[in-house]
Amino acid sequence: MPKDSPLELTRRPRRLRRFASRRAMVEETVLRPADLIAPLFVVDGTPAPEEIGSMPGVFRLSIPDLVKECQELHALGIPAVALFPKLDPKLKDENGTQALNRETLVLRAVRAVKAAVPELSIVTDVALDPYTTHGHDGVLNAEKDNVDNDRTVAILAQMAVLQAEAGVDFVAPSDMMDGRVGAIRRALDAAGYTDTGIIAYSAKYNSAYYGPFRDAVGSAQAAGTRLLSKATYQMNPANRREAIEEVLLDVAEGADVVMVKPAGAYLDIIREVRDAVRVPVAAYQVSGEYSQIQAAARLGWLDLVRTRGESLLAIKRAGADIILTYFAKEFAKAYKG
Ligand code: PBG
Repeated sequence: MPKDSPLELTRRPRRLRRFASRRAMVEETVLRPADLIAPLFVVDGTPAPEEIGSMPGVFRLSIPDLVKECQELHALGIPAVALFPKLDPKLKDENGTQALNRETLVLRAVRAVKAAVPELSIVTDVALDPYTTHGHDGVLNAEKDNVDNDRTVAILAQMAVLQAEAGVDFVAPSDMMDGRVGAIRRALDAAGYTDTGIIAYSAKYNSAYYGPFRDAVGSAQAAGTRLLSKATYQMNPANRREAIEEVLLDVAEGADVVMVKPAGAYLDIIREVRDAVRVPVAAYQVSGEYSQIQAAARLGWLDLVRTRGESLLAIKRAGADIILTYFAKEFAKAYKG
């Protein structure tokens, strides 16, 4: 196009993209370490940190190493951690009995972290999968062909009270049983834990992206078998309206924060949830999302730092106020105000 005959354009959006400073001026979404929760895996004893095969850069930590990691995360501006125990398989049984033991691994970890870094918020999962031999999030019914909703909820409510007693700031029911948020709220209040909050895994999908996590906590047993499908409680990935129904139920039952999980493949759900409620919305960038970026980066097919940042930014832009991500520490380390 010759210089003397420019296109007659009223609007030229490129003007706003001319320099980095100008692009920053009109930037709509900002991601900060303060938006992130770091999920961490804890093991018993004092083994050296053990890298999870399918999650490069993620380690199972002993309690002393976990405490150090939490101190570092706090210093980097990460506001919260979500703790997941990997239990010795010998301690698992069909009913997940260890979940109600005051001295169980995760509760000891909570006490140690709280004592060392009181201002770091601690989130713990309320679900039986780390504790059951079959890997389900609850106890089975008499026919052993499904998870028993109401018996499971009664156990989860007790589990939440033990977690509150150990000092967690937020319990996070990730089990997808009906009515568990209300039951947990009532149990916490009755025990005097009115300040312990609930981050509800409200729209948790039955997703293949949890594969590496199940390796990490050793709950993969049921995967693939008839018994190990979680399709009778986790949501069908085909459903959108149902996510809103689940979220509204959890808010009505007392959830302080609602969550969508996974995140990257469910950005539409995050947006709809953000528009449907006023409470903060969390999204969980799950293990498989992390692993696929790491794997492609290792092959030299994707730039790790840029893909990491873009994947998280997209989740925030979709409407998440809080993001659980295995990239939390590396993101915070690279963050420049
Ligand atoms: C289990 C639980 C799962 C995750 C968090 N809590 C897995 C599952 O439902 O089987 C997945 C997290 C991830 O994949 O990173 N209650």
